[in-house]
Amino acid sequence: MKAEEAAYKRLKQAVVAHTGHHYYDDKDALLRKRLDERAREVGAPNLAGYETVLADPVTGDAEWRALEAVVTVGETFFFRHSEQFAVLRDTILPNLLNAATNRRRLRIWSAGCSTGAEPYSLAILIERLLGDALPTWRVDIIGTDINEQALVNARKGRYSAWSLRGMTDVERARDFDADIRPSAWRLHERHRPRVEFRRHNLLDLLPEPPAEWRGFDLILCRNVLIYFGAHQAAPMLSALGQCLSSGGWLMIGYSDALADIPPELDVVQIEATRVFRPRGVTKLAEVPAALSEPPAPESHRLPPRHAPRPAEAPQPRVIASARAEDRDLDRIRTLADTGRLEEAALRCAGALQAHPLDHRLHYYDALLAQAANDRTRAEAALRRAIYLSNDMVMAHYHLGLLLLQGGAAESGRRVMSVVTELCRAVPEDTVLEEGDGLRAGDLLARAVLAVEPAMVDQASQP
Ligand SMILES: C[S@@+](CC[C@H](N)C(=O)[O-])C[C@H]1O[C@@H](n2cnc3c(N)ncnc32)[C@H](O)[C@@H]1O
Repeated sequence: MKAEEAAYKRLKQAVVAHTGHHYYDDKDALLRKRLDERAREVGAPNLAGYETVLADPVTGDAEWRALEAVVTVGETFFFRHSEQFAVLRDTILPNLLNAATNRRRLRIWSAGCSTGAEPYSLAILIERLLGDALPTWRVDIIGTDINEQALVNARKGRYSAWSLRGMTDVERARDFDADIRPSAWRLHERHRPRVEFRRHNLLDLLPEPPAEWRGFDLILCRNVLIYFGAHQAAPMLSALGQCLSSGGWLMIGYSDALADIPPELDVVQIEATRVFRPRGVTKLAEVPAALSEPPAPESHRLPPRHAPRPAEAPQPRVIASARAEDRDLDRIRTLADTGRLEEAALRCAGALQAHPLDHRLHYYDALLAQAANDRTRAEAALRRAIYLSNDMVMAHYHLGLLLLQGGAAESGRRVMSVVTELCRAVPEDTVLEEGDGLRAGDLLARAVLAVEPAMVDQASQP
């Protein structure tokens, strides 16, 4: 037993050194489970035997790759944290496109891209911004990840409804084709050539990034540094900063906590989103709503900016007050985001037995039912979520969509009018509960758009 414990400790050290995942510092049970599973999978009698497989000159490399795929967390979806994409659309990309009008070239890197939703979202956004001028530009987007299996899936460009939950039906129809599998979509071929995927370990940027990883106009490294731990995240941020072109932009995720901002980078805050640029590049006049002062030192999680709310109005909740402390919810999201929808649904069903009054669980139950094409269960679950929490605007919205898509135009419109009422009752930058970063203003626009086709259909009937 002692030998097994010692083997576990050595393996843990190796995993952390190899991936940078200090995330596991206090998650022994989880890491142990994953290592035990891999050991069983390869037929190793115990963890000491598994160490031998990893060290083997013939099998070792392939097994490390398989292990990387299970110890990393690949949660992602299209247009995740829509307010960051709004900043990209309204400020960062226009700035870059203006600066590059002559050379007409942009190099973009999505570092830690998982199954590709992030770099493909960028490709979609660039197409929208450039429109007819797109063919006259060369835009190279590279998506990298340590998890090779995630990249294999990224290259296929096929996604479940779950991964597209950040998009409306209209947006989805523009950028995706229905796949042969039910409830699945294929990214339209026209977006694919601009995105290349390559396996890359971010730790290879330390201590100095090699030349081939320099000169990027835009780097997104979102929701990756969170796994590294503060002492490793700071040098990584510095290395990523060195990979920027002289006028480049670097965006990290909201949860990527950092202890120190490297001296060679400026922090530019645009609304609730914080981005980094090489020191001295940004003049305040250049960036609307940019603030020159660094963020508050006590917290690197940026809360949405709220005006006080009217006390009596029904209020959508904010993410800040509804953070998923609940392990079940975290696990359900992670399972679903990694494509394990059936497991996520089972976990959700189990969690609902334990917490039948948790509206968020009913909401996820509904999204998972929808992903499985079970509209009846989805509708019932959304109605339960709303019954338990009448101000959960995302549940109203999805119920509205479901009804509209199912041909119940009148009921769908009624539900959408509740959505617009709830959205209007709060400041438009209010981040919505379980809305994956969606703000009240954005949802309001979506609700209006969702109702429009139904009105057109009705108007065109004799
Ligand atoms: C939570 S996902 C984030 C995906 C995407 N950036 C997003 O925000 O939607 C984190 C990704 O970082 C990758 N990752 C973790 N450690 C890495 C490393 N050392 N080098 C490269 N990628 C890494 C994981 O494999 C995983 O796919």
